[in-house]
Amino acid sequence: MAIPKAELHLHIEGTLEPELAFALAARNGVELPYADTEELRKAYLFDDLQTFLNLYYGLMAVLRTEADFEELADAYLARAAEQGVRHAEIFFDPQAHAARGVDMGTVVTGLTRALARSEERHGISTRLIMCFLRDQSAESAMETLQAARPYLDHITGVGLDSAEVGNPASKFTEVYAAAGELGLRKVAHAGEEGDPSYVWEALDLLGVERVDHGLRSMEDPELVRRLVADRVPLTLCPLSNVRLRAIDVLEEHPLARMMDAGLLCTVNSDDPAYFGGYVDDTFHAVHEALGLDRERLRELARNSFLASFLDGSAADEALRAKYLAEVEAYSFD
Ligand code: ADE
Ligand code: ZN
Repeated sequence: MAIPKAELHLHIEGTLEPELAFALAARNGVELPYADTEELRKAYLFDDLQTFLNLYYGLMAVLRTEADFEELADAYLARAAEQGVRHAEIFFDPQAHAARGVDMGTVVTGLTRALARSEERHGISTRLIMCFLRDQSAESAMETLQAARPYLDHITGVGLDSAEVGNPASKFTEVYAAAGELGLRKVAHAGEEGDPSYVWEALDLLGVERVDHGLRSMEDPELVRRLVADRVPLTLCPLSNVRLRAIDVLEEHPLARMMDAGLLCTVNSDDPAYFGGYVDDTFHAVHEALGLDRERLRELARNSFLASFLDGSAADEALRAKYLAEVEAYSFD
């Protein structure tokens, strides 16, 4: 059994496995530019974030109906349960679906159907985080926030993803302020390919509570001091960083150094269907490549629950306490 953990950086569209993509394509009459799953898998060689995003947005063409989103989420939750996930905070990209005429209601209703029975079926509590695409305009992000208003009971927070360099957080200051007024929690991708200034902006201009990736934070000691002092969690995704060539090989990943520096690190899978592993596979990989020992892995698992958006309500406090007790009681043997 895998160590109990929360997954806090997971794009639901990035869990679309080739087999499901072809099944949905057949069901929805969508033609894919690949002969079969094998040929599709061969296309999973990326030069950087953008070459990945091109394929990722393209393959979303198969997602059309509520049932498609429900099936996608249910398949992820089943796999996540096998990987020891007990709590999942799941990103979705509504603008990428709106571009094909798939509206917010279809996406949220479909996902929510799977999430609503997740505790019972998979033993996983869940939250949904709606991401804005940073390579689209601030106006489009604001329209997306407005379109989400009827569904806010199902949405815990907002995030910011897609092509980072050239699309700094400052573009979205007003949108995040509006999201905060609606009671939404705030995260943003920053420091994945972008330099530390992108992380500073996410903190200072957007007021994020967690930084997604934050990989390049170590380049700026002042930023590290700030992240440590404010206990800002980072949702690192080591396998993603290798596949998108932010780093050359896993052995060079700064995770161990970041933990040594006192940063509140978590480990996550990002887009596991594309990057060669789900979250416990990632735990194993960092154990092997970086020599993180069992207590370091336990620390990562503990951090994942501490960094989650389980809140101060009695029900959430009880869940967090239960999960943390499971982490402490876990035996690696
Ligand atoms: N969308 C899906 N995965 C992403 C990533 N790793 N970075 C930015 N946007 C994304
Ligand atoms: Zn991501």
